Amino acid sequence: AAVEKGNYRHYMLKEIYEQPTVVAQTLQSYIHQAENRMALPQIDFDLSAIRRVTIVACGTSYYAGMVAKYWFEAFARVPVDIDFASEFRYRDPVLEEGGLALFISQSGETADTLAALRYCKAAGQTVAVVVNVPTSSMAREADLLLPTHAGPEIGVASTKAFTCQLAVLAALAAHLAVKKGRMDRNEEHEVVRHLLEAPAALNAALDHDDDIAAMAHLVAPARDVLYLGRGPDFPLALEGALKLKEISYIHAEGYASGEMKHGPIALIDEAVPVIVLAPSGPLFEKTVSNMQEVRARGGKIVLISDEEGLAEAGEGCLATIAMPRVHPLIAPLVYAVPVQLLAYHVACVKGTDVDQPRNLAKSVTVE
Ligand code: G6P
Repeated sequence: AAVEKGNYRHYMLKEIYEQPTVVAQTLQSYIHQAENRMALPQIDFDLSAIRRVTIVACGTSYYAGMVAKYWFEAFARVPVDIDFASEFRYRDPVLEEGGLALFISQSGETADTLAALRYCKAAGQTVAVVVNVPTSSMAREADLLLPTHAGPEIGVASTKAFTCQLAVLAALAAHLAVKKGRMDRNEEHEVVRHLLEAPAALNAALDHDDDIAAMAHLVAPARDVLYLGRGPDFPLALEGALKLKEISYIHAEGYASGEMKHGPIALIDEAVPVIVLAPSGPLFEKTVSNMQEVRARGGKIVLISDEEGLAEAGEGCLATIAMPRVHPLIAPLVYAVPVQLLAYHVACVKGTDVDQPRNLAKSVTVE
């Protein structure tokens, strides 16, 4: 049956709002709630023997992979390679025995990602896929199918598939850590607890939709926008910039906060909004000093942080957006919401075709 927009103006907005539900739905199939443990689908190979993870994807799915790299390394202490499918395929990558090749794709049909999957399979890697379409080519060809339960995604710019990918990847990273003896029962319990907090936190983030819609009027006139983030929130800066490009047609760049002084700082003036994604935590102070570098050059900052972060560094910003205070593990899921909503509202201000942006396709089946 055709998917309806319901009361929403666009599919994209509807899909953004579905996130608390579909992330909960996805988590349900990866967590054994009564036992407080990860519960992955039947795996018929020895996960504890995995010595390296190679992540390959395109677009928004690639940024989910970038977040996952932090988790695989922190939890399971396995080295992780990550590349765009269109680069990976042609660079003669070194694939050793004991490698898990992990492909992330909403559609399961992206031509470059599928070709990279076949390449890895032929090279003897164990192939796992995180896909939203369980009947897709990638799903059929994988050794391990890890479905996201986002439901059909119609808006060309990916939103709910992304947060569901993150949910699956966090569960997989924790599960691998358990299998490799890197995570004990209590730590696993904690990860489960934090992951299960995600749906409510996503709801709390959605509560700030009106603030973000108001802020969109400040961003819409900009020709260029800079997005900054650190650690696992750095890929969210990249995703924020991608979303602005995709549907609002604003040139935007995502940068690692600490790397800004090596280049993009030269672009800063009062016409370039700098959007900073900075949940409070151990890395916050460093990001505040990056913000000061921006401010000293007349730059206008939009700070997206929690109450504690805003109290500490919100003053003097062009605008601030409050996020719920969450465990760092789920911050990338929660901060996806303002990033998506901002691009959405800027697109609405500019009157672009949100669900069918020019020149883009939902599923790219050409190489
Ligand atoms: C296209 C879509 C993006 C998507 C990318 C990867 O560019 O417009 O939203 O992130 O393809 O698609 P996949 O289906 O492999 O996740």
